[in-house]
Amino acid sequence: MSDPTWNAPPPPDAPSLDLSADAMRAATELCTRWAIDHIASLHAQPSWDLDGAGEVAAGFREPPPEHGAPLETLLQRFAGAVEKSFNTAGPGYLAYIPGGGLYPAALADYLSLAVNRYVGVWNAAPALAAIESAAIEWLRSLVGYPAGARGILTSGGSMSNWIGLVTARRNRLDDDFARAVIYVSEDTHHSMHKAAVLAGFPAGRVREVGVDARRRMRVDALATAIRADRAAGLQPFLAVASAGTTNTGAIDPVPAIADLCVQYDLWLHVDAAYGGFFRLVPAGETLLPGLERADSLVLDPHKGLFLPYGTGCLLVRDPEALRRAHAFRAGYLQDLEHPEEGDSFADISPELSREFRGLRVWLPLALFGAAAFRANLAEKLALARWAYEELRRTPGCECLDEPQLSVVAFRFVPRRGDANTFNRRIQQRVNGYRRVYLSSTTFDGAFVLRFCILSFRTHGREVAMAVEDVRRAAREVADGEPLEPLPRPG
Ligand SMILES: Cc1ncc(COP(=O)(O)O)c(C=O)c1O
Repeated sequence: MSDPTWNAPPPPDAPSLDLSADAMRAATELCTRWAIDHIASLHAQPSWDLDGAGEVAAGFREPPPEHGAPLETLLQRFAGAVEKSFNTAGPGYLAYIPGGGLYPAALADYLSLAVNRYVGVWNAAPALAAIESAAIEWLRSLVGYPAGARGILTSGGSMSNWIGLVTARRNRLDDDFARAVIYVSEDTHHSMHKAAVLAGFPAGRVREVGVDARRRMRVDALATAIRADRAAGLQPFLAVASAGTTNTGAIDPVPAIADLCVQYDLWLHVDAAYGGFFRLVPAGETLLPGLERADSLVLDPHKGLFLPYGTGCLLVRDPEALRRAHAFRAGYLQDLEHPEEGDSFADISPELSREFRGLRVWLPLALFGAAAFRANLAEKLALARWAYEELRRTPGCECLDEPQLSVVAFRFVPRRGDANTFNRRIQQRVNGYRRVYLSSTTFDGAFVLRFCILSFRTHGREVAMAVEDVRRAAREVADGEPLEPLPRPG
């Protein structure tokens, strides 16, 4: 007797989610045309525009569509959302730490998402994983970190700081970290505090060491804190040095901190997310000494290499340390085990499935070559120095320090009235002109303005405009009178 179901046909196909070759070409052309027009007009766009942003945002609060809409309509909606934002990719963006957005990185993402290969495990795509390893190796070599170190690409500095801290904890303390203490400075990026808490350390075990007049970690204060904690029966475990703070670009004295770490057996983590790539400029090693002594080093290609947001890197000197912290086995992965030929990123990082990040680092470096990055980074340092000289010659303006990297922090001292209110109003006015965009910070209760010059699109024209706008705003706030409207860039 034959089985009546034996010859039953398979269930029917669902409607295809693949586009035809012509439809793909048309859709891609539509998107690239829009993106290229957008990028070509960046210099003429306002430095920010949030007018009516709430309504545009509210328009996206809707149930999931049961049936699709044409790409033209969706692209228009997306373009409307882009318009209502800080123009972080524009040349006038001098706020926080600007991210880059080199176009070849977008092409790299397009290609890697289009092929959608899996690179988390070496033997699933050995040559693609090799591209990512090569990109990491290039970053290591460019900043002069020791050969033999291992690294991973992350989504940014916060993730790198967190993974670095967990790696240090797993290697130095294992599960017993009840008495461990972490040392940061007053100006260490807050992602380090967050990392400590996420990694299970009580917030009270993060010691904020004081800074000197140039806002660099005080090594004497660090030594005092370590000794006091030891005497109290605690376990000094990790010190964080910043190679370029977010606030002012201050460079902590890494070599002296490294000496203390050796003396007291601490793991040295260097957060060079902002400053690390300034090692590429001539005399970069003198500018940023001691990075090679870090046990773990954070670099953000989405800052100093001008790549798009979502591109971070963590390097660790002991090549086995990342594996000790991250390698786990599972039966369903048994087919993927492989000899020690190349790095399986899944074994040395927290992620298993993720996009292929390597291409967006590799392609721009391979296309432009390191010299182009060196020249652009040197230009940013020169622009910061120029802005500093201009601002300190501006009546009523005082700079906190000469720039150590590409941040210039300054404030005005008004003849009368509250200085913080005065400076806040200057910031509001400058941003109100919409030619450049500035953010502020606070030191010891003082409201401080800052330029952070890091976008590859920011050149002398924009920095001159920023200085002009600050001077004009200071006069307007002091006199209470708006001056003639400023010409829009374009
Ligand atoms: C010194 C430093 N560390 C860490 C971070 C956090 O990086 P991300 O914003 O990429 O998470 C920043 C961000 O500006 C930073 O400047």
